[in-house]
Amino acid sequence: MFSYRHAFHAGNHADVLKHTVLIALLKHLTLKEAPLTVIDTHAGAGLYRLDGDFAQTSAEAADGIFKLWGKNELASVLKDYLEVVQSFNAQSKALKVYPGSPFITQHLLREQDKLKLFELHPSDIKALSGNVEQLRAGRQIAVIREDGFEGPRKFVPPPARRALLLCDPSYEIKSDYAKVQTLIAESLKRFATGTYAVWYPLIPRPEAHDLPKRLKTLAMRAGKPCLNLALTVKNSKIISAVQSGADVAKRPGLPASGMFIINPPHTLKASMLEALPQMVDILGQDKHAAFAVD
Ligand SMILES: C[S@@+](CC[C@H](N)C(=O)[O-])C[C@H]1O[C@@H](n2cnc3c(N)ncnc32)[C@H](O)[C@@H]1O
Repeated sequence: MFSYRHAFHAGNHADVLKHTVLIALLKHLTLKEAPLTVIDTHAGAGLYRLDGDFAQTSAEAADGIFKLWGKNELASVLKDYLEVVQSFNAQSKALKVYPGSPFITQHLLREQDKLKLFELHPSDIKALSGNVEQLRAGRQIAVIREDGFEGPRKFVPPPARRALLLCDPSYEIKSDYAKVQTLIAESLKRFATGTYAVWYPLIPRPEAHDLPKRLKTLAMRAGKPCLNLALTVKNSKIISAVQSGADVAKRPGLPASGMFIINPPHTLKASMLEALPQMVDILGQDKHAAFAVD
């Protein structure tokens, strides 16, 4: 357990999708004056150096944020995403720092909002606490060393009954898929009007393909709208291509991922329909690159 370190993956195509959606959700939810609570069930370290050892070893950001960097004429949600990432690199023209979900969220929160961050990895919780301390945000941000599948329940529903719960586990263990489902099912029972956003990998594993279907069933049973957004950047059968000696990347990497949103803002689908074809064009690695909106 806990071999996953997000620093290897920061800024990859999955982060581009996840963080673009996260920013669109936050921008919409902060339009109303009433306080918002954001619960980040699997927070990571919060900030990542793209010129550091972890990111350089995997080079995943090269196929993600670096491909978008400096691009013009983008869909509005992609412009918003780039603007947020740029704000963390204001000192230098080059892209060196990548904000994770805690810092992206903090960047968009107002004084009246709260942020609850859950993390369990001993190194990442230390890095996250240190990074958050520098913000001097006081009681606005809580860094909580507890299981992100269990701890968030105590904040649902929050006092002002407005919340966004981002569930972004590492799916290191097969049981993570069922735990996501249980967390969302129980949260929906307690607080059916909250906004829930679940990131999931699209890999050749039945649990991964079943998760969005199961989340859709939960939303339908609760009578709540939902939106499933998926981005494929390359062929998922790349491993067998490597085995057969074909000329493809040695490091198979993640071929596709999705974001499942329950109670999405009514504007999200149209915004993502504008952005996803551009993401396919810019981030796609082979002819299998595609998007899906359901
Ligand atoms: C995909 S990363 C999170 C990335 C982050 N949400 C972002 O977008 O920047 C998943 C994180 O979950 C942490 N983690 C794994 N199991 C956990 C658990 N049961 N509770 C809380 N955090 C956990 C891992 O240490 C890792 O940092």
